[in-house]
Amino acid sequence: SAFYSNITVEKKGKKNNVGFIQLNRPKALNALCDALMKELQTALSDFSKDEEVGCVVLTGSNKAFAAGADIKEMQPREFAEVYKGDFLGFWNSISLFKKPIIAAVNGYALGGGCEIAMMCDIIYAGEKAKFGQPEILLGTIPGGGGTQRLTQAVGKSKAMEMVLTGDQISAQEALQFGLVANVYPVEELVDKVMEKAEKIASMSQIATGMAKEAVNSSYEMTLAEGIHLERRLFHSTFATILKLAINSIGSCNMGIINAKL
Ligand code: CAA
Repeated sequence: SAFYSNITVEKKGKKNNVGFIQLNRPKALNALCDALMKELQTALSDFSKDEEVGCVVLTGSNKAFAAGADIKEMQPREFAEVYKGDFLGFWNSISLFKKPIIAAVNGYALGGGCEIAMMCDIIYAGEKAKFGQPEILLGTIPGGGGTQRLTQAVGKSKAMEMVLTGDQISAQEALQFGLVANVYPVEELVDKVMEKAEKIASMSQIATGMAKEAVNSSYEMTLAEGIHLERRLFHSTFATILKLAINSIGSCNMGIINAKL
């Protein structure tokens, strides 16, 4: 399997069905250099092909989920290069990952770190987590979706405040504003997130994939289009999952579901 130097990649959980990725570039607080981002994409691509994996967890260290794009790599770059190379464009592939992906954030999630977390389906935070879009302090603005996803997550006023001042928010504030689904003690975060991930991974992969697709479509579609898509996806589950459940002598015992279906 692939050799990684900026991340660690393993399969975890009692059924080995959770893909676990830890950003591991401690000397730069997991700053998202090109090499790290390429490794992350490779790991996700492998997990998307691995039928056993039903959910992915993305985490960092206790000090930093990720302190942003790599400032030292960005500093010498000029307009023509970043424009022609569509710098950060390829990051968006994380938001196109088909399986459920959960961010477990301890410590700093700043700039690109916050943006990567927001590309995930659920964010859980450790009590000491800090979220922020500090790009304005460097004379630039978020470039990995921060102005869009943060606004959708916390509303215009809070997003504007964060993007215009560069001020960070705490885990508790992130919970209050709906950026994260829950906050846990630092040392418990990964275990709590693994519990949720194992639960999700035990569901039908077709159903979790469709649920994710339907929820995400609410950001891209009108209400009528989204409801139409949802209903058609719902109908299509009658071809597989519900049939299996109903066949189990009317008990509808979801325990019989094969997670690969
Ligand atoms: N890029 C590259 N290196 C970084 C980095 C980054 N974003 N963040 C931290 N590092 C490096 C530091 O340079 C330092 O390395 P050296 O020891 O070699 O100098 C090491 O990580 C440890 O950092 P600090 O000594 O600064 O640690 P601290 O605990 O004193 O402070 C911090 C922590 C407040 C997070 C501080 O490191 C910081 O402010 N980092 C920059 C955060 C930032 O501005 N992020 C936005 C980047 S721009 C962006 O992300 C664009 C986008 O939209 C995608």
